[in-house]
Amino acid sequence: MAVDWARGGPDLLVALDRGAGPLGIQLQDQLRTAIRDRRLGAGERLPSTRRLADLLGVSRSTVVDAYEQLLAEGYVESTVGSGTRVAAIPGGLTLRAPGVASSPSRPIVADFEYGIPDLGSAPLTDWSWAVSEATRALPTAELGDADPAGSPHLREVVTAYHRRVRSGCAVAEDAVVVSGFRQGLAFTLATLAQHGIRRIALEDPGPREHDLIARRACLDPVPVPVDDGGLDVDRLHASGARAVLLTPAHQCPTGVALGPTRRRDLIAWADEVDGVILEDDYDAEFRYDRQPVGSLQGLNPGRVIALGSVSKTLTPAMRLGWVLAPPRFVPGIVEEQRLSSRGTPALDQEALALLMESGRYDRHLRRMREIYRARRDVLAVEVEHAFGPGRLHGLAAGCHALLRLPDGTSEHTVVTTAAAMGVRVNGLAHYRFPGMETEPRPPALVLGFGNVSESQIREGIRTLARSAGHGGSDRA
Ligand SMILES: Cc1ncc(COP(=O)(O)O)c(C=O)c1O
Repeated sequence: MAVDWARGGPDLLVALDRGAGPLGIQLQDQLRTAIRDRRLGAGERLPSTRRLADLLGVSRSTVVDAYEQLLAEGYVESTVGSGTRVAAIPGGLTLRAPGVASSPSRPIVADFEYGIPDLGSAPLTDWSWAVSEATRALPTAELGDADPAGSPHLREVVTAYHRRVRSGCAVAEDAVVVSGFRQGLAFTLATLAQHGIRRIALEDPGPREHDLIARRACLDPVPVPVDDGGLDVDRLHASGARAVLLTPAHQCPTGVALGPTRRRDLIAWADEVDGVILEDDYDAEFRYDRQPVGSLQGLNPGRVIALGSVSKTLTPAMRLGWVLAPPRFVPGIVEEQRLSSRGTPALDQEALALLMESGRYDRHLRRMREIYRARRDVLAVEVEHAFGPGRLHGLAAGCHALLRLPDGTSEHTVVTTAAAMGVRVNGLAHYRFPGMETEPRPPALVLGFGNVSESQIREGIRTLARSAGHGGSDRA
């Protein structure tokens, strides 16, 4: 269903697809994209809710809800007598991919960069409520230097959350609040080095830079391959490492979940080598088709260090995360934190505690799960249409998937051709540690769909298919 409301409002096409998920979400999505892409300019008037509902053939409450959501996010303004108008949003909200090799005037078709949540959906209204509550409630005494381990309140709330949602078993004393996962990782690795651990196994393929973070902590990183069941635990045994860092809930970047037997084998490995498992719990909150998989930390709290972050659940700009560690490692991690920065900002910590305690965090996650599920469904349909069946993997959870390209395709050529056509995407090669690849991998693209609208996904996948057809082959 497509509607053009040229008369009595801005010239904008809204197309709702009754087979493609909730109509209200589609409407929000398209209006948000139109505003971000400057197809709707600041001050432009949107049609009345009644008129738009009539034009689209949807209930008025669907349109009212969509407008209210955009109002809460600051995309539109509403004044009595002049209806709903597009708000002036800062230029920074325009999706502009730094790595795309395109001329300045070329529009960005889609940015499939991995690991970015929907920035336009960051719960800023809830966050400003939480910050103002925190500012009001924080006792004067806590405005000085605080405990580098983090505020007792947030440590309590985060561990309760982890027990409730992730089947963990940590208590507040096991938690250290950090400025995001990466900082937690750096502090943890430095602590492991002090405990005599020399070698750490990393997933291959895996997130870029983890090898560099390990080396900075004076550890020796060793890659261990990931297959369809997750990290290969036999190869882990053979690696001689006594620590391993992995993403068991939704492997970065292949999207596989660590299977039940592998989980048991991994725990047994840790007991056998007196080792430590670093669980990057990234992506655990977003699950679609399968039962939740609990945190490894709950299975063996003496051997697992769980690292969490709100970078994906809220926004990377908040720079907040936590490390849940066995008691023997906590003092070392806290000391790293104390020496590096004396701790994470107290007001932000209190705001996050209030956000989580008030139920607003869970509510936001519920809303985002539906948005991501709708995007994932669009991605699956578009990829199947453009590349054929069975090529997309790792869709059961999270906000990224792996697109296997036809054998012989040059990943590099597809990535650079797509970039020139306005689509930003990384090949699997981007997730290998240079010079440390365990084995060759078939060509593939990592498609992050957290921060691309459904219409951008459609357009982006079509462009990728054209890129793969345009000289994307290694064959002569
Ligand atoms: C695998 C993985 N884990 C965790 C994170 C979150 O990191 P941070 O909290 O430092 O933003 C990222 C972010 O890109 C990631 O790629």
